[in-house]
Amino acid sequence: MKTDIVIIGGGPSGLLLSQLLNRAGVATVVLERASRAHVLSRIRAGVLEAGTVRMLREAGAGDRMDREGIPHDGCIFSDDDLMVRVDFRDLTGTGVMVYGQTEVTADLYAAQDAMGATILHEVADVAIHDADTDAPYVTFTQDGAPRRIDCAYIAGCDGFHGVSRKTIPADKRQEFERVYPFGWLGLLSRTPPAHAELIYANSRNGFALASMRNPMLSRYYVQVPLTERVEDWPDDRFWDKLKSCLPAEVAATLVTGPSVEKSIAPLRSFVCEPLRWGRLFLVGDAAHIVPPTGAKGLNLAVSDVYYLHEALIAAIRRGDTAGIDAYSARALARIWKAMRFSWSMTMMLHRFDGEDSFAAQMRKATLLHLSQSETARRDLAENYIGLPF
Ligand code: FAD
Ligand code: DHB
Repeated sequence: MKTDIVIIGGGPSGLLLSQLLNRAGVATVVLERASRAHVLSRIRAGVLEAGTVRMLREAGAGDRMDREGIPHDGCIFSDDDLMVRVDFRDLTGTGVMVYGQTEVTADLYAAQDAMGATILHEVADVAIHDADTDAPYVTFTQDGAPRRIDCAYIAGCDGFHGVSRKTIPADKRQEFERVYPFGWLGLLSRTPPAHAELIYANSRNGFALASMRNPMLSRYYVQVPLTERVEDWPDDRFWDKLKSCLPAEVAATLVTGPSVEKSIAPLRSFVCEPLRWGRLFLVGDAAHIVPPTGAKGLNLAVSDVYYLHEALIAAIRRGDTAGIDAYSARALARIWKAMRFSWSMTMMLHRFDGEDSFAAQMRKATLLHLSQSETARRDLAENYIGLPF
């Protein structure tokens, strides 16, 4: 089998890249390890930057998002009972869209199906060969049978645990990492959201986030030590912890209900440089992970796709390789700024076990400053709605 671009991973970055390339007449094959149902069962991101919204529309996958997504013009940061609203629209002229990653992925699958794109699910043993030559190829097994695809370029969109990054020889890549000593326990419930806007809550009892998917579907997170297991968190324990972290006026009216899903995500900052090895390009979580506090992971994957799709189209259609030569540096410049923002939001909002008494005072002072300084709010808003690409 032969194609222009093999895309490893059928998550949001792989599907969006495939969609944009197919629309430009560039042939792709997407190789996904999991079943479609499994990919669609993962509850993850909920906030789309304006640039992500624009890209999904450009890809022809934005109609349902425009009908069902909820535009948000601001959100709340709280410190115990102090609630600070950051008005994104007022400060930057734009807002964000609340629309789940599950829905984004479903819409991209539907758009790919409509174009007749090739997505192979439940493939195993994916291996990248000769990426540092002019004739790369990918092997894998499907239904137990060995298969091979020759291609011009390979896009590694296979997330943090995929094969793509590990294919790059250790002496050709540099990795930067910070692992935080806690995770987020997330719960989805068919209940009305706690508040009209998201609340990022700093409190003496740790961090919590009140988010949503639609008027009858809420998404909440609480900070937990890495040693915790989901089984140790019956719903009642979760709701008690959440209420203890939210401002009293919000906790008082919180509607609780049975969980639909519960999972723990560890927090990590990670970057692998460069994003290219020969004809292999890393995209999204395969190359970088941000702690979820800034709502940047999915959005960064989309900005990588933006830079790479233009570059690959120019290389395949016109033989112009300037874009692929510049891809890594262009994408990394934006990635590092989002890394910084996600790290600073994480430090502003989380309690670290064993921290000194000074640390809590720094968080309080940061939130008090945010409540009193339009300059501080503007800086936060500019980063939260997404830096330009
Ligand atoms: P993935 O979604 O990880 O997709 C990779 C795909 O590759 C998967 O489908 C996987 O099955 C497949 N794969 C892996 N290995 C192989 C292999 N060897 N062969 C073939 N296929 C393979 N981001 C935001 O922007 N906003 C948020 O609000 C937000 N909240 C989050 C909340 C949580 C709890 C979590 C966990 C993440 C959150 N994120 C958020 C981050 C966001 O979900 C990720 O950044 C995003 O999924 C990255 O997309 P991706 O396509 O690069 O990788
Ligand atoms: C959601 C997740 C985040 O990490 C975030 O910062 C905001 C919202 C969510 O799942 O709704």
